[in-house]
Amino acid sequence: MLATRVGALELCSPLLTASGTFGHDGEATAFLEAGDLGALVLKTVTPRPRHGNRPPRLVETPAGLLNSIGLENRGVEVFLEQNLAALEALELPVVANAGGESVEEYRAMVRAFGPLDAFAAIELNLSCPNVQGGSLPFSSSPEAVTEVVSACRRLTDKPLWVKLSPNVTRISPLALAAEAAGADALTVCNTVLGLVVDWRRRRPALGAGFGGLSGPAVRPIAMRMVREVAQAVEIPVIASGGAACADDVLQFLVAGASAVQIGTAGFREPSCISRIAAELRRELAAEGLAAAELVGTLAWPDPA
Ligand code: FUM
Repeated sequence: MLATRVGALELCSPLLTASGTFGHDGEATAFLEAGDLGALVLKTVTPRPRHGNRPPRLVETPAGLLNSIGLENRGVEVFLEQNLAALEALELPVVANAGGESVEEYRAMVRAFGPLDAFAAIELNLSCPNVQGGSLPFSSSPEAVTEVVSACRRLTDKPLWVKLSPNVTRISPLALAAEAAGADALTVCNTVLGLVVDWRRRRPALGAGFGGLSGPAVRPIAMRMVREVAQAVEIPVIASGGAACADDVLQFLVAGASAVQIGTAGFREPSCISRIAAELRRELAAEGLAAAELVGTLAWPDPA
């Protein structure tokens, strides 16, 4: 009833972890019941270690979380040394997430991940707003998306997912560029650039200044972008943006997503993916539907 597919990848559930919210090693899957998580999407890894941004790195907002982690990680060599064996032992698809500051760095990540059987797919994080001064050099122009995705595509036959940014005027040209360059699926989307001010100190609340907003506050923005992208491309769309219950997930499926990443909700409730899976089974059983039947079924109103 929950089974879905993202291109060639068959998943037992449309629920995936969102990169950066469930760790590097799969340990947190112990919070979940078998069969509830479709795939484990790992936190971003970069070629070299990154210390991350100046603290504070997190601030809560009324319906979301503003973060500026800065892609902290130990670099791909240590990541593989420390985690590969544990990831290979997991009985579910694992998606590696690759970050970089240049086309060559993305290529280095795909060269590292591509040959490894532990990874069922590679998600290219083109859209972290908390590095390179928030300039988003690989997710702001179709030309840059084309360059990085086609360079990575040439290096691997593994499914390549491309995680796009919501911090653009129109997302469809970026989605079309990624598809034409060989992406197998598009993750829509990363966090929305935001600012919280500590007015007494006359300083931003986050050490780095701006941050990326996630959680329920961004869900309608992600929903709109999932719809736009699903209308524009033929490849599958993976939703990421504030889903926290079955109703949110079902909305994303109807809007055009084949799978839905759960992120911020898991910080408060690490087992929420199992709670949402149980809710989904109840909702779908009540309607006599399978999750995959709902994908892209949104009926759009006629113009007045
Ligand atoms: O700052 C961060 O590590 C966030 C990453 C992302 O949103 O891709």
